[in-house]
Amino acid sequence: MSIVDTTVHKGTEKFAGQEPIMRAEHLVAGYLPGVNILNDCDLVCYPGELIGIIGPNGAGKSTLLKALFGLVKIHSGSVTLGGEDITNLKANKLVQAGVGFVPQTNNVFPSLTIQENLQMGMFLRPKKFEERLDVIFDLFPVLADRRDQRAGSLSGGERQSVAMARALMMDPKVLLLDEPSAGLSPVRQDETFIRTRRINKAGVSVIMVEQNARRCLQICDRGYVLDQGRNAYSGTGHELADDPKVIELYLGTLAKDVDGK
Ligand SMILES: Nc1ncnc2c1ncn2[C@@H]1O[C@H](COP(=O)(O)OP(=O)(O)OP(=O)(O)O)[C@@H](O)[C@H]1O
Ligand SMILES: [Mg+2]
Repeated sequence: MSIVDTTVHKGTEKFAGQEPIMRAEHLVAGYLPGVNILNDCDLVCYPGELIGIIGPNGAGKSTLLKALFGLVKIHSGSVTLGGEDITNLKANKLVQAGVGFVPQTNNVFPSLTIQENLQMGMFLRPKKFEERLDVIFDLFPVLADRRDQRAGSLSGGERQSVAMARALMMDPKVLLLDEPSAGLSPVRQDETFIRTRRINKAGVSVIMVEQNARRCLQICDRGYVLDQGRNAYSGTGHELADDPKVIELYLGTLAKDVDGK
């Protein structure tokens, strides 16, 4: 086990000597040969942490999550889960190993009902279905009431809930969320952030990419700012939200006005 560089991962000092639940080191990855989208990208998530990833459009945030989940080829660098190498493992193996992923778009099966969508999340452990369903319906009561409704007829927020619920059916150790609040009304966005925090408090480590950067930094333990496939800044959510450079470059003047700074 190599030592985590706390200058690259600011805010991790309190975890000194512990093994991160997920760790990406020097990731170089992309979709096409010779065109790298991630250029030496690093990330660590310790057990129980809620990590936020923010950055401009096209920075490579979704690519990073896809690389962690085996959907984008990693050309060099490594990913570990609880110290075990999982670099370039296929998504189904990663689900078995305890990683859940909710993609940014197309994250439900529209022609299936809510319950059938949740069943798809459990294809690896069908015997546990009823047990997990109870846990998930407790977290998302609205889905219980509408379990026989087709996912295609749900609102954006409801679909997002189904997608998150499906990933949680397998009881993952780490949940990767790509822009869970995108396209939602402010009230629904808030619900999504609160629910994410609740899932995290229940013991699931979360790595969340978010376009609502300020809100994301408010609820996450630590954050990373990604720019052009590299880490630009890291720190606790509050440190990043208060950093004048991060505000100027990534949170915008509107964010400053909101806080009266
Ligand atoms: N399937 C793909 N094939 C080729 N290039 C892609 C593919 N998906 C994304 N890219 C490229 O990778 C780069 C990073 O895209 P990515 O989706 O990771 O950015 P992002 O930070 O998630 O942006 P956004 O905030 O808009 O979601 C972009 O230049 C994009 O054009
Ligand atoms: Mg994206």
